[in-house]
Amino acid sequence: MISKTLQKAINDQIQKEFYSSYLYLSMAAYAESENLPGFAHWLRLQQQEEQGHAMKLYKYLNERGGRVELQAIEQPPTEFSSPTKMFEEVLEHERFVTASINKLYEKALKENDYAAQIMLQWFIEEQVEEEATASEILETLKMAGEKGQALLMLDRQLARRGMD
Ligand code: FEO
Repeated sequence: MISKTLQKAINDQIQKEFYSSYLYLSMAAYAESENLPGFAHWLRLQQQEEQGHAMKLYKYLNERGGRVELQAIEQPPTEFSSPTKMFEEVLEHERFVTASINKLYEKALKENDYAAQIMLQWFIEEQVEEEATASEILETLKMAGEKGQALLMLDRQLARRGMD
């Protein structure tokens, strides 16, 4: 049985993962409107991954005899001034999620909840990857710039996510 404190913290994390999903779907909509189908594809897959993160926590809480209590998800931004600014926001958001996962892990350590620690180690590793990927795309955008050929090439590259 999971403690009430950890149950609350996991429910809060479920909300953050669903918000991430909503945020990336909003970014995908922006990319569609900017005629960047590759960016939109990448962001839609990211949206699905975030739902997967939320559902992993949902399932875990049930398995531990906890109670899932879904919370309101606020409206994400709908406008992003450029692809570079958008990926700056992706990276910033992933850093925020990493900090939140780390706090959750600290709670599990404090409570000597070993099962929760093991489950959260997956998320800690996942966040390393999430930040690295966002950072790589952001660096490419900064180097290549946002005009013409370079942006088109990056869009094509992002369109291949999930196909290699
Ligand atoms: Fe679920 Fe992108 O962190």
